[in-house]
Amino acid sequence: MSHKTIQIQSAPEHDHGHDHHHEGGRACMSRRSFLLSGGAFLALVGLGGVPGFAEAAQLLKAGYPRQKIGSLSALKAGEPISFNYPYADVRNILVKLGVEAGGGIGPQKDIVAFNQQCTHMGGPLDGTYKPKHQVLGPCPLHLTTFDLTRHGMVASGHATESLPQIMLEVQGDDIYAVGVMGLVYGYSTMTAAGRA
Ligand code: FES
Repeated sequence: MSHKTIQIQSAPEHDHGHDHHHEGGRACMSRRSFLLSGGAFLALVGLGGVPGFAEAAQLLKAGYPRQKIGSLSALKAGEPISFNYPYADVRNILVKLGVEAGGGIGPQKDIVAFNQQCTHMGGPLDGTYKPKHQVLGPCPLHLTTFDLTRHGMVASGHATESLPQIMLEVQGDDIYAVGVMGLVYGYSTMTAAGRA
């Protein structure tokens, strides 16, 4: 797979200097917060291209649980399964794309997992996977689509930030979620240690 560089795109500031605000106990992320957490991590990965992804993922996963979410033998190309991680209210999909992808695992490096909440305003992306183009979307609120072959980058629409990618590992036939790259919409941190 050729090297790809991840673009860092940031949402416009709406909080006029405040780092974040809270809605129902969950902190909403500002551009500054994003850059200080998941965004900064993606920037590091981007500098090194895809080979740096694996090394950076190794560093990040220390703060996350290790959770079995599926198996290689049961996963069919183009038929995603959903799972919750790292919290019970965070919905994600595990999907075998059928083409090699950034951060992909398995013999074809085509198995990836992503959060299902749009990074624009949190619209639900559940059930929107399009196997023909390997995208998630369009979001029902403002039509953003995300490219799952390229670390969840925005392919079109209003969102400016990539979809959080769930880091995966294979052990035998089992597939494990071991971390989250980026921040799920509405969270200021993803690790259990840092969760408010
Ligand atoms: S909430 Fe998804 S595009 Fe606006």
